[in-house]
Amino acid sequence: MTIKVTKLHSHFAARVEGIDIATGVSDDDFNALRTAFEEYSVIVLPSQDLDDERQMEFSRRYGPLEMMAPHLANDSNPQHISRMHNEEPDGSLIPPDDDRMIYQSANMIWHTDSSFKPVPSLCSMLHARILPPEGGETEFACLRAAYDALDQGMKDFLDDKIAIHAFANTRRMVGGKLNDWQKKNLPPVRQAIIRSNPVNGRKALYTGGHAGEIEGMSKEDGAALLKELMGHITQDEFVYAHKWNDGDLTIWDNRAVLHRGRPWDGTKYKRILHRTTVAGDGPTA
Ligand code: OGA
Ligand code: MN
Repeated sequence: MTIKVTKLHSHFAARVEGIDIATGVSDDDFNALRTAFEEYSVIVLPSQDLDDERQMEFSRRYGPLEMMAPHLANDSNPQHISRMHNEEPDGSLIPPDDDRMIYQSANMIWHTDSSFKPVPSLCSMLHARILPPEGGETEFACLRAAYDALDQGMKDFLDDKIAIHAFANTRRMVGGKLNDWQKKNLPPVRQAIIRSNPVNGRKALYTGGHAGEIEGMSKEDGAALLKELMGHITQDEFVYAHKWNDGDLTIWDNRAVLHRGRPWDGTKYKRILHRTTVAGDGPTA
């Protein structure tokens, strides 16, 4: 098979056709896909027929999978699948004001997956299983274009800066606290603010909802600068909104984009997507 790459946004994101994971992806096609991933940061593979096993197997070609932390909305088994969903075991809808939905609403804050871990994720793969007829898009913001657009003074200032990322930051934003497991296992971590892609050298402005402070700055000044950077990153020019189709598998580079889920009417519609998360290969700072 030969793959066809169609750009989805002027700065990043591409749809890749000609890949059918269910029937097998040759090494050549996989390498072409991997090259497209390094270049475009967000890849949409339409019409993929996947169950959890197949999704995990394909994801592992990118590297080892992260384990999902135990939490109240994570009822998946095995532990390498993270379910974004509003479905009770009996098939009915989980009400939007249920604690499990409030827990998951943190996905609607701009973030990059696992930046609260000492080694943050390389990429995530999210597969659409059941979609609402409207709403529930996933938005992506290009951290490379955002970096490129900074003035030179800010680039120089940020060059060696380290941000402190903590899972507690995004929990707090949705009015939640850490459970005992999270308290013990997810202490704040240091992450470089500027990350270079190892293949093409492109620099990315690495921050997101988990980032709360900047080393060497006062709490207030660091938080204010992070807020300013988030406003810069998430302006329309740098954002691609993905409107899901049945069977889409979206692969995004957690080193180079932020993402967030968008609301939908959870009193009427189901939304179920399954995520695998590929681990990164080392600390950023
Ligand atoms: C995720 C996530 C957003 C969404 O799966 O990591 O943040 O649109 N999802 O469901
Ligand atoms: Mn996420």
